[in-house]
Amino acid sequence: MDEITIRTARPGDARRIARLDVETWRAAYAGILATPFLVGLSTQRRELGWATVIEREPRDVRVAVDNDGNILGFGSCGRCRDGKFAGEVYTLYVASDWQNQGIGRRLLLALFERLVDQACGSAIIWVLRDNPGRFFYQRLGGRDVQHRIFTVGGKRIEAAGYAWPDLRNRRACRGPARALMSYSLSMTSFDRFAHETA
Ligand SMILES: CC(C)(COP(=O)(O)OP(=O)(O)OC[C@H]1O[C@@H](n2cnc3c(N)ncnc32)[C@H](O)[C@@H]1OP(=O)(O)O)[C@@H](O)C(=O)NCCC(=O)NCCS
Repeated sequence: MDEITIRTARPGDARRIARLDVETWRAAYAGILATPFLVGLSTQRRELGWATVIEREPRDVRVAVDNDGNILGFGSCGRCRDGKFAGEVYTLYVASDWQNQGIGRRLLLALFERLVDQACGSAIIWVLRDNPGRFFYQRLGGRDVQHRIFTVGGKRIEAAGYAWPDLRNRRACRGPARALMSYSLSMTSFDRFAHETA
């Protein structure tokens, strides 16, 4: 059985994060975002983006790795650029084969810990309304507090902002029933890649 570790990103992770980033975008947003846009996503461009982010502040990026060092999921966070919340989770993706095994929860909680360490006592994450992944945030105690329109790949898409007003309250961050697993980017993921060409 693989042991999954959540750790801070390293410069050498940028390429593998970028590959998984493109792979998970194509899987998660098929039928939601325009197909030519998804087909045209560039691993090279995303690698450059991730390398810059990791170089700037590696602690804002967390990866889930198996025993062999394969990256199974990743997430990033930082200060919120606008609105009522101090922090923001910019990205959170788990490889298709590894979903529903608790990795997303562990990554999200690691990002929350990072935000609390930076004196960010609250957080928001933006998720496309048509992405069923948003129910994961609901499960983890996030409240649907705001709606916005993003333009991604030339398409206007509604997004929901899920918020955690008090990250220091661990109970409120773990959702209604289940316990925690024993527990900058300068723009959101959507903003960052909205201008990628197909
Ligand atoms: C959404 C995502 C990050 C969740 O990560 P995960 O590792 O699959 O989720 P976990 O196994 O940690 O799930 C934690 C809990 O949330 C629940 N959950 C996970 N995905 C869910 C979903 N889509 N709808 C409802 N509940 C969900 C799990 O059943 C689990 O519940 P439990 O408390 O009863 O155990 C992951 O599935 C993913 O990357 N999806 C595709 C990309 C995406 O949508 N990313 C978010 C973009 S903002």
